[in-house]
Amino acid sequence: MSLLKISHLRKQFDDLEVLKDISLEVEKGEVLSIIGPSGSGKSTLLRCATGLEKPDGGEIIYQGTFGLVFQNFNLFPHYSVLKNITDAPLKVQKRKKDEVLKEARELLKKMGLADKEKAYPFQLSGGQQQRVSIARALAMNPDILFFDEPTSALDPELTGEILKVIKDLAAEHMTMVIVTHEMNFAKNVSDKVIFMDKGVIAEEGTPEEVFGSDNVRMKEFLGKFAE
Ligand SMILES: Nc1ncnc2c1ncn2[C@@H]1O[C@H](COP(=O)(O)OP(=O)(O)OP(=O)(O)O)[C@@H](O)[C@H]1O
Ligand SMILES: [Mg+2]
Repeated sequence: MSLLKISHLRKQFDDLEVLKDISLEVEKGEVLSIIGPSGSGKSTLLRCATGLEKPDGGEIIYQGTFGLVFQNFNLFPHYSVLKNITDAPLKVQKRKKDEVLKEARELLKKMGLADKEKAYPFQLSGGQQQRVSIARALAMNPDILFFDEPTSALDPELTGEILKVIKDLAAEHMTMVIVTHEMNFAKNVSDKVIFMDKGVIAEEGTPEEVFGSDNVRMKEFLGKFAE
């Protein structure tokens, strides 16, 4: 079953065509990684898919709900960890307080943050803040979780922490779309990889297919990581 179907998506900023006829599908339980050079349109694609940016053309069809985890965590600075996680389930989804609190504490435990529920974001490391923001997204019980470079603001040790959390979610068959510059991670955790270049999908397939591709731009791109 396809949880998300994007057809012929187009987006431009003034004269700059950032997305040119992008079509893709995300199946239930699938992990899709999106890789590609800076400026190729990865974030714009995610922003259009999640309604943060208005497309100029094409169609986006969801079967279900989505959550979003940003590069810079975007936690509410004046809310405690627990309130960051429970606020939307209580106020937006209007779920029962007992149930929401119980679930939030379970998520914190799963993220290794059981002792941090009263802390404020500024009291946490970058990796801890990112785990809170993943817990916050999961608290809404989304059908698909989007990540835009979830580790690029973190140093290597904390990066590993977050990649492990995402890997564990993949093992639980959480459907995820991940924009990442972590090539080994994309190779190991994804069911499908998309290589974007200058606003188009230049290559797509299994990690083996994409990373083994003869596409010149793809090779050039991967070469930069090998240096
Ligand atoms: N709000 C905006 N207004 C004008 N131009 C924009 C806007 N957002 C993005 N762009 C331009 O669109 C292009 C694609 O940007 P995008 O952020 O999608 O790239 P990206 O693939 O995510 O890059 P990176 O790997 O550096 O995050 C860039 O040339 C960028 O300057
Ligand atoms: Mg980006």
